[in-house]
Amino acid sequence: MSLPRLVIIGAGGFARETAEIARSARPELALAFVDDAPTEDALRLMALHDAAYLGAVNSWQPSPGDTCVIAIGDPGARATIAARLTEQAVTFAVLVHADATVTPSAVLEPGVIVAPGARVSADVVFGGHVHVDQNATIGHDTRVRAHARLNPAACVSGTVTIGERAYISAGAVVLQGLTLGRGSVVGAGAVVTRDVPEGSTVVGVPARRSHPVGCTSDGLARPQDPT
Ligand SMILES: CC(C)(COP(=O)(O)OP(=O)(O)OC[C@H]1O[C@@H](n2cnc3c(N)ncnc32)[C@H](O)[C@@H]1OP(=O)(O)O)[C@@H](O)C(=O)NCCC(=O)NCCS
Repeated sequence: MSLPRLVIIGAGGFARETAEIARSARPELALAFVDDAPTEDALRLMALHDAAYLGAVNSWQPSPGDTCVIAIGDPGARATIAARLTEQAVTFAVLVHADATVTPSAVLEPGVIVAPGARVSADVVFGGHVHVDQNATIGHDTRVRAHARLNPAACVSGTVTIGERAYISAGAVVLQGLTLGRGSVVGAGAVVTRDVPEGSTVVGVPARRSHPVGCTSDGLARPQDPT
């Protein structure tokens, strides 16, 4: 019988981190990846993770038993691919690094990825395909809607609501009880003390709205994600 296979969508830095997250919990997993245009470097580095290249995302046909995660940092791109793969009835995995802590009362929808050092507290709910990067902390009762991303060391207090496709940058702090709108962006190192409107970007301490960042095809303001 063949080993269970995890197919990673993407070939960037976060895809390689995702390979390590998956293997930390299940060393026996066979890994593969799909990407529309992997660079030579990406192909070489993914091979070092023993992940077979299966071609472009659109041409990938899942084999029986395959599970999948989307390891693309940009929330809009992730949402688009997730919608397409959901139509194909792809089964999405939930990945939690062995060195992350997720309380048993937390709910993680399919496609969620939790990196090493992350701490997820009581009664947190993550929608599908949320990424929680290294050492991010999420306080009790927080709701993180689908496709949002928390970058390394983001610190989200309790009872926060984070909208779909929101992007919380590295080292940002969000105070308790606040709501970050759909597609909003919190800059690196910001301290968010007020609600953040949908699609807006805030930076600084205390966080204030900055100029609009480049809009993506779905019309939501969002920075270029290096992963
Ligand atoms: C907030 C952010 C998204 C804005 O991106 P952007 O629109 O490309 O912003 P720019 O680089 O054009 O900067 C615009 C202005 O905002 C300022 N600015 C940018 N990011 C800032 C931040 N995090 N805090 C304070 N000011 C910031 C810039 O200094 C610049 O000010 P100026 O006009 O006075 O020179 C981005 O700077 C950021 O914080 N990204 C974090 C990414 C991250 O978490 N990386 C880790 C990946 S794992």
